[in-house]
Amino acid sequence: FHVDWDASAAEKDGYEYFMLKEIAEQPRAIADTLRGRFDTSGGIILDEVRMSDQDFRDVDKVFIVACGSSYHAGMVAKYAIEHWVRLPCEVELASEFRYRDPVLDRSTLVIVISQSGETMDTLMALRHARNQKARVLAISNTVGATIPRESDAVLYTRAGIEVAVASTKAFLTQLAACYLVGLHLAAVRGIKYADEVAAVVAELAGTPEKISQVLEAMEPVRELARRMGTADRALFIGRHVGFPVAMEGALKLKELAYMHAEGFAAGELKHGPISLIEAGTPVVVVVPSPRGRSLLHDKVVSNIQEVKARGAAVIAIAEEGDDVVAPHVDHVVFTPRVPTLLAPLLTAVPLQVFACELAAAKGLDIDQPRNLAKSVTVE
Ligand code: G6P
Repeated sequence: FHVDWDASAAEKDGYEYFMLKEIAEQPRAIADTLRGRFDTSGGIILDEVRMSDQDFRDVDKVFIVACGSSYHAGMVAKYAIEHWVRLPCEVELASEFRYRDPVLDRSTLVIVISQSGETMDTLMALRHARNQKARVLAISNTVGATIPRESDAVLYTRAGIEVAVASTKAFLTQLAACYLVGLHLAAVRGIKYADEVAAVVAELAGTPEKISQVLEAMEPVRELARRMGTADRALFIGRHVGFPVAMEGALKLKELAYMHAEGFAAGELKHGPISLIEAGTPVVVVVPSPRGRSLLHDKVVSNIQEVKARGAAVIAIAEEGDDVVAPHVDHVVFTPRVPTLLAPLLTAVPLQVFACELAAAKGLDIDQPRNLAKSVTVE
């Protein structure tokens, strides 16, 4: 009796690539990251805290510093923190932050986001911040890594080990962790009873189920990606939190499919990128919810019309029930309803699947793209 045993296949749980497995694990990863985080007073339980509640109350400015996908998670966090906590918040690439002269003091909270906890640029930014007496809160997926060890407070994402170089479940759990940090700041600073913030806690708990629903409806996205294997470039646009999602979607396509992909704020189209559009140029649009912020939705619909008029092939990621967008686009992928600030937890998923499938159609190495490393420990 002989059994062929392939350890790597076993680890992939029947999936062809680690990335597919990790995409599928996202509902579980988000549920794990959220589980048991709330204390009885509505605050968030951080994993390691060498800061008092008073330190958090003294914060008068937030900087978020990270690289790659983690930076995109930080961009989303800025919208949430400014809106919920009403603190000024800047987001910056670690490699830039470090060589500028950012104005920091002990009332500045620097949030560093790093899946690996070892990215050299982020670590150097952390040290730069601490040298100027700023407090540092780390969001990391790796218990005991250098970045969380050197920080004043830590919130661990519980994505589990991510093997594929291109981040998927780690990115999504970073988003969840960013929301938790926003809620923590809101609670500590005494604005926890604001209706919207309280509603977000309940909505967050429902996101794993909604991510599962998104994953179940991905066959048309895969089909679309397979048909687009010959495109040589793609543009991704969005507004508000759809802007960082657009950047993340473009990064995934660069990383995996070696395609020239650019993500930018839809409002910037007319300041340059629209000149790139020719007949058939794929444009992926992250459409905001038509509920509540309908002005934002209207603006994105007019951006869609602008690119359509120039021949773009438009793929929209829109909210279920949005019947305005469909007639203007070539393909629409619907995601379940959630509050606008939480939408990236859902809208990023089709873009991951799209990039993965497109790269697979090109026969590329999904888990180990050329020239890239999972953890970049040099500056
Ligand atoms: C590399 C990885 C990316 C990751 C980035 C930041 O470029 O390939 O997936 O987003 O590093 O890594 P970190 O571990 O600091 O989140």
